[in-house]
Amino acid sequence: MRISVYGTGYLGAVHAAGLAAMGHEVVGMDVDPMRIGPLERGEAPFFEPGLPELLSRGVESGRLRFTTSIDTAVEFGDVHFVCVGTPQLRDGNGADLRYVEAVVRDIAERLDRSVLVVGKSTVPVGTARQLAGLLHDHARPGLGARLAWNPEFLREGFAVEDTLRPDRLVFGVEDSPSEEILRDLYRPVLQTGVPCYVTDLETSELVKVAANSFLAMKISFINAMAEVCEQVDGDVVTLADAIGEDARIGRRFLNAGVGFGGGCLGKDIRAFQARGAELGLADSLAFLAEADRVNDRRRDRVVDLASSLLGELAGRRITVLGASFKPDSDDVRDSPALAVARRLHAAGAQVVVHDPESISNARQAAPELSYEHDVEVAARGADLVVHLTEWRQYGALDPRELGEVVSQRLLIDGRNALDRDAWSAAGWTCHSLGRPSVG
Ligand code: UGA
Repeated sequence: MRISVYGTGYLGAVHAAGLAAMGHEVVGMDVDPMRIGPLERGEAPFFEPGLPELLSRGVESGRLRFTTSIDTAVEFGDVHFVCVGTPQLRDGNGADLRYVEAVVRDIAERLDRSVLVVGKSTVPVGTARQLAGLLHDHARPGLGARLAWNPEFLREGFAVEDTLRPDRLVFGVEDSPSEEILRDLYRPVLQTGVPCYVTDLETSELVKVAANSFLAMKISFINAMAEVCEQVDGDVVTLADAIGEDARIGRRFLNAGVGFGGGCLGKDIRAFQARGAELGLADSLAFLAEADRVNDRRRDRVVDLASSLLGELAGRRITVLGASFKPDSDDVRDSPALAVARRLHAAGAQVVVHDPESISNARQAAPELSYEHDVEVAARGADLVVHLTEWRQYGALDPRELGEVVSQRLLIDGRNALDRDAWSAAGWTCHSLGRPSVG
């Protein structure tokens, strides 16, 4: 099949490369030449494990091309995937739909034959139907362009795996020809037995935001339990392990710590609440506001803990391990690590941040902070080390060696991910979120 993909961010770039790996002819389009440049050479414009290999295979095979020309992309594809961003509005919590609307309008105005336009971006429920109207209104009469919705569930850090082996596929369609096209397109994935849900446009949009809302709620639930544990000297990790044994609850996404960040969970639960309010359903989604509040409190908790350990923060040297919102990603959007680092800095501390992959993104987002590419250099003379993104490298650190360079062996593990026994055996006092301290 000939497929065009609009938007080459985390979603579009991986999707385009994944479709080429499934055997399709793909053109990826983006208005940003800084993205298209590396992609044309088969290089990933951001850090994502496995993506460089997938891209270079696609580009070398000739099945994967990239362009900044919307004309080329519209002319090429029989199926058009919309993968552009739906960021949070600057002046509110709703989603900014201007990019998805512009792409659909741009496609419609250039079409000379019947095609399928498929939305993948995360949008408020009701958007797909509106876009179907836009497509119809702007396309030449009688062309018969269709719109379908096919939400994406990939996680950064596992994007390639999630694209080629997703947990499920969801097709929001208005007619059976659209369903048939999507089934054909995803045949290599469907053949592996991946469940496929075919439904209406609205349900497909909702599956995506409901999934992200549930994940955010699950994280905030365990973080609320961490708040309780802190008050009564309980241990949230043991609590999570024990409740997670119940298959109805499950242990995944019950890791208490500094909470969720990134470009999706926070933005999506806010946009869902905004849409809920428009629909007169503010009460139905009120719990999402609480999930957001718990999440933000965890960031403050780290700063409060640092203050209570160090007294006055002004002039104290703090090393922050991690800047990206999660490991195996260089994405710093709404990163809890960076937010905490900034709050510590604002309180007067001298903050030095280390991250294996995201320093250049972090520097742009938080230029006021200092950065170091080497952990030991970052930790030199530190009064406190704060671990905020659980990169594997940090789990492999030798606490004895690090203990030699710091000014005092004081650790906050904001992700409950380090081996506290090993760190305390090396002379560190270890504080965690939702657990009694050791050492
Ligand atoms: C999330 C969803 O997991 C994907 O299914 C979805 O496709 C994606 O958003 C999206 O909408 O595009 P992602 O943002 O890549 O994926 O990251 P997650 O793995 O969900 O992690 C989100 C945040 O929650 C991270 O900051 C992570 O550190 C935090 N987290 C995760 C916890 O604090 N505790 C946990 O137990 C799990």
